[in-house]
Parts: sequence; C-alpha cells; structure tokens
Amino acid sequence: MTLSASHPLMDGRTADSPLITAYRGGTPSRRPVWFMRQAGRSLPEYRKLREGIAMLDSCLDPALASEITLQPVRRHDVDAGIFFSDIVIPLKLAGVDVDIVPGVGPVLGTPVRTAADVAALPVLTEEALEPIREAVRLTVAELGKTPLIGFAGAPFTLAAYMVEGKPSRDHLGPRTMMHADPDAWRALTEWAADASGMFLRAQLEAGASAGQLFDSWAGSLGLADYTRHVAPASSRALDHVRDLGAPLVHFGTGTSELLGAMRDVGVDVVGVDYRLPLDEANRRLGGATPLQGNIDPALLNAPWPVLEAHVREVLAAGAAAPGHVVNLGHGVPPETDPDVLTRVVELIHSVEP
Ligand code: CP3
Repeated sequence: MTLSASHPLMDGRTADSPLITAYRGGTPSRRPVWFMRQAGRSLPEYRKLREGIAMLDSCLDPALASEITLQPVRRHDVDAGIFFSDIVIPLKLAGVDVDIVPGVGPVLGTPVRTAADVAALPVLTEEALEPIREAVRLTVAELGKTPLIGFAGAPFTLAAYMVEGKPSRDHLGPRTMMHADPDAWRALTEWAADASGMFLRAQLEAGASAGQLFDSWAGSLGLADYTRHVAPASSRALDHVRDLGAPLVHFGTGTSELLGAMRDVGVDVVGVDYRLPLDEANRRLGGATPLQGNIDPALLNAPWPVLEAHVREVLAAGAAAPGHVVNLGHGVPPETDPDVLTRVVELIHSVEP
C-alpha cells in the first residue's frame, strides 16, 4: 500500500516543501522550523478554546483538534503543523482507563505490571481511530502547502506510563520489568507498538506528510537495555507505516548516547535534544542523517540578544548535517511569550538555508 493520489505528499502540495525537502536530505528554499508543543498553553487562543474541556476530550473532537493544530501555523508562519493529540490517545481509544491530569500528565486507573495485566489489555480497532482520521482530513484541507506532521509515542515511553500508572522521574518500574519479567515486558511493548503504529498510520493515510515517534523518556536507558529491550518494539511500531514512504523522525530526550541506535530502528531523521550540539550529533551519526533540533527551551525566556546568538549557533551547527529542520530541544514551556516564538521563526527564515 502507498498513499492515495490525492494525499498532500502525492498531489504536489507538500513533497517540495522546505520541511519534506530537508527531511529527505535535499536543499530547501528556507531553513524549515516548527516547535514541539507549538499548539498549547503558550497561546492565549488555545487557552480560550480549551476552557472547560478536558485534554483528551479536546483531542477526540475533530473540529476542535483541527482548529488547535492550525492556531500556531497561522500565528508563527512555521513550516509544519504538528497534529494536536497525545501519545496516550491510542490507549484511550482502545478502552484503557487513562486520563491526563492537568499539571501532572498521563495517569492510568490500573497500572500494567504482570503478564496477566498485559494479556487483559483491550485491543485498538481501526473504527475507533475515525475521529483521528477526521481531524487530520479537516486540518490538511486548511493547511494547503504546509505539511502536517503526525506522531505517536514510542513503546518505551508509553510503557513507562503504563507500568508506573503515572509520570515518574527514574522509570524504575519499567526498567525493572524488562529484566525481571522479559516476556511480559516484550508483550507489553509489542502491544504499545501496535497501538502507536495504528495511530500513526491513521494520521499518515488521512493526510499527514511525515511522522514523528516520540521516545521522550528513552534517555533513562543505557545503550545495552535500549538495544535489547526497547529498539525492537520501536521498529515494530514503525513497521506499521514504512510502506507509505513518508519521512519518519525519531526523537527522545537525554539520548546523546542512543542516537545511532535510534536511527537504526529505521528512520530518516533523528531529533536531538538541547544537550548535544548538532555538529557533534552529526559526527556521531556519521554525517549521513538529517537532524532536527535543538534550541534550548530555557533560552526562550532569556534576553533577545542571548536567544538570537543561541539560535544562530544552532543554525551554524545544524548546517553540518545533510538536512536540518530547526526545532526546540524539547517542548515549548507553557509560560513562553508567543511573540518570541514568532521572532525566532523570522530570524531563522532570514538566514541562508
Ligand atoms: O503541539 C504539539 O506538540 C502537539 C501536541 C502534543 C501534545 N502531546 C499535546 C499536549 C504532542 C506531540 C504530545 C506528545 C506527548 N504527550 C509526549 C511526547 C512529547 C514530549 O513532550 O516529550 C508526552 C511525554 C506526552 C504525555 C503528556 N501529555 C504530558 C507529559 C503532558 C503534560 C501534562 C501537563 O499538564 O503538564 C500531557 C498533556 C498535554 N499534551 C498538553 C498538551 C498541549 C497540556 C495539556 C493542556 O494544555 O491542558
């Protein structure tokens, strides 16, 4: 299967966009930029739309999810929309008792800790994904030549929430389980891989032009554990979408030692957090992989000359890679002044690609 002839990547709308060109290692007309969490609490228009509506409910209302996705594209002139949803949406749509608690993050009614817990997990169906497809269709109809990026959570990051039942700092629960009960761990990460893979495929088929796998918490793992207990499931998640031919991006935080292994699950682009300069990331990857990143979100709140100098450094370091899409090293902090983001986009677009 490939994408339909009327898909934005196939009908001439996005294939030559700066984002897709850079993801494919070509030379774009301008240095593309988008921001993780560009849709969200930094925008007053987002806070207004979300008033009185729970996070996961807003993700499952196609018109609302679409409008929230479009808000930062209109405001900042970024080179991509990132679909407004959440990594736990496939769990919710499968029937898992999960919610997002404001200021906390994903919380499960019943943590998943044993082989029996894993065996009892409900299975995600294609029909349940219809609100996701509908939201993507509405969004790409408005985006025109601007590509939409679809995304999903990587199995480790999802399993980290499922085993702990809530956010945690050290992810001791999942890191114990992969060694203490490797069969149950494998079953859990395969379940998460299939749910995330189906969620990502629904977005790509409905009109997203690229896909990003978020393994936000993979940095809590050493290379040996990552390679043995995590990478196979991440690869399995991507197996759901490889035939579509859309560029795939893999991002995590604290992953400076894992970049090569994260590329080797089979992606086109590696996202780098703020800890490692992009020229060094490029060196570690052998100079052959387009990169995405990595403005330090902390500097968005620094005086403009400090931020400007940092952005110029990121652009210079990123020029070493065979393709560079500018982003933050992690998500937009909620207290960010949105006018600063707009100014950063203008600065990036004013520099030679
Ligand atoms: O603009 C975008 O980036 C698109 C939407 C998006 C959201 N979550 C919306 C959201 C994306 C790509 C995600 C992915 C996601 N969700 C990740 C991976 C990326 C990352 O940040 O590392 C993770 C780990 C989650 C789980 C999650 N969901 C957390 C930790 C939180 C924050 C909880 C809080 O209130 O601080 C959420 C909630 C969430 N997801 C919000 C948004 C805009 C905030 C909810 C709100 O505005 O009320």
